[in-house]
Amino acid sequence: MKTGSTGGIARFDSPGKGRGLRATEPYKVGDLLLACPAYACVLSVGERGYICEHCFARKEGLSKCGKCKKAFYCNVECQRKDWPLHKLECSAMCAFGEDWCPSETVRLVARIIATQVTQKERSASEKLLLLKDLEAHLDKLDNEKREMNELDVAGLHHFYSKHLDFPEHQALLTLFAQVNCNGFTVEDEELSHLGSAVFPDVALMNHSCCPNVIVVYRGTLAEVRAVQAISPGEEIFTSYIDLLYPTEDRNERLRDSYYFNCDCRECTTKSKDKVKLKLRKMGDGLRSEEVRKMTRYARNAIEDFPPPAELLEMCELSLDKMGAVFEESNVYMLHMMYQAMGVCLYMEDYDGALSYGEKVIKPFSQLYPPYSLNVASMHLKLGRLYMALDRTLAGTTALKKALEIMKVVYGKDHSYIKELKEEISRKK
Ligand SMILES: C[S@@+](CC[C@H](N)C(=O)[O-])C[C@H]1O[C@@H](n2cnc3c(N)ncnc32)[C@H](O)[C@@H]1O
Ligand SMILES: [Zn+2]
Ligand SMILES: [Zn+2]
Ligand SMILES: [Zn+2]
Repeated sequence: MKTGSTGGIARFDSPGKGRGLRATEPYKVGDLLLACPAYACVLSVGERGYICEHCFARKEGLSKCGKCKKAFYCNVECQRKDWPLHKLECSAMCAFGEDWCPSETVRLVARIIATQVTQKERSASEKLLLLKDLEAHLDKLDNEKREMNELDVAGLHHFYSKHLDFPEHQALLTLFAQVNCNGFTVEDEELSHLGSAVFPDVALMNHSCCPNVIVVYRGTLAEVRAVQAISPGEEIFTSYIDLLYPTEDRNERLRDSYYFNCDCRECTTKSKDKVKLKLRKMGDGLRSEEVRKMTRYARNAIEDFPPPAELLEMCELSLDKMGAVFEESNVYMLHMMYQAMGVCLYMEDYDGALSYGEKVIKPFSQLYPPYSLNVASMHLKLGRLYMALDRTLAGTTALKKALEIMKVVYGKDHSYIKELKEEISRKK
């Protein structure tokens, strides 16, 4: 395989967007464009016990690391393969006890540095782009971001000094900036956060709010599948952000995390903004000042993230307040209902979760692109809730809707598909 291309895709310089990926062959919806193993990945602390620390397989009966009793593995083989990286944390977790609290980014960077030491050749994750060549945008960091990076470097030294030879300070700052701009969060089929990872080749893709591919995970492998037909020569775009929100909000997020303004079709035409920001119909009409004020309130409200019990109260309060001006299908209302559903699930209030979920699913299906992980995961959660509450017919219908989207984005042979088919047939 020549460098710079793999299968039917190739790296190129995308005008105004830096490097990018484009198709050299036609692809149809559901086709796999790229499969990239993680250069490095790290399991979230909250997922320990449910998922293998090494291969990210989800199964029951994982075995514990005998030393720290914190990491869990499928078998001895996974444990043995993970040891060169797990040893960075194993004894430190015992030594620090309750005080062991590095951020997930710090944990990932520790694993990257340890991998770099042994990885002398171009890895299977770097067929198109080397990790060291990832964009860092160092010149664009403001003081707050610089400080955050300094804190991460300090955290790395604090928790990982025993087993790591650190690169010099500036190189570390660059590495954190690269990870912030190019890192991936690994999520399951319900979009629960499983961990963080770097996939250099996948990070070559630029962003669009009308993406033609989606990135999904199979263990620690990232897979890129077409969600629109792609012709040879066309650029391959993924979405970096949640596409629910209106153009201004999306671009604020893109500027803040990735330092660019999006010029995609949706950002240019803003065609969905009006429905996304739908107002209640009122006899004498709303004054624009009132709408501006409520929008400001909504945008602030969706940034806060206090703990669950208070969060539910906050969601209900915000929904009440915003409901006077916004329609229920308005994305700020949907955001709050989605949060409220999450809290209800956390508190095992299934009826509460269901009532919020039922309100968001229809607008979600209209506002997100046709093949969306957000829509699939919402059908899935609803289906599982109905099933848990013995509403088999509604459950089967919702699960089948999830299955239809998931077959395309995950591929028919993914374990999620097998599990879901079993769920559907089990309760018939
Ligand atoms: C994950 S990297 C993508 C690859 C990148 N173009 C490169 O050369 O390394 C993210 C960066 O790509 C650029 N980028 C991505 N999508 C873009 C877009 N739609 N318009 C302009 N720049 C974009 C931004 O500089 C962003 O910080
Ligand atoms: Zn495993
Ligand atoms: Zn251990
Ligand atoms: Zn856009």
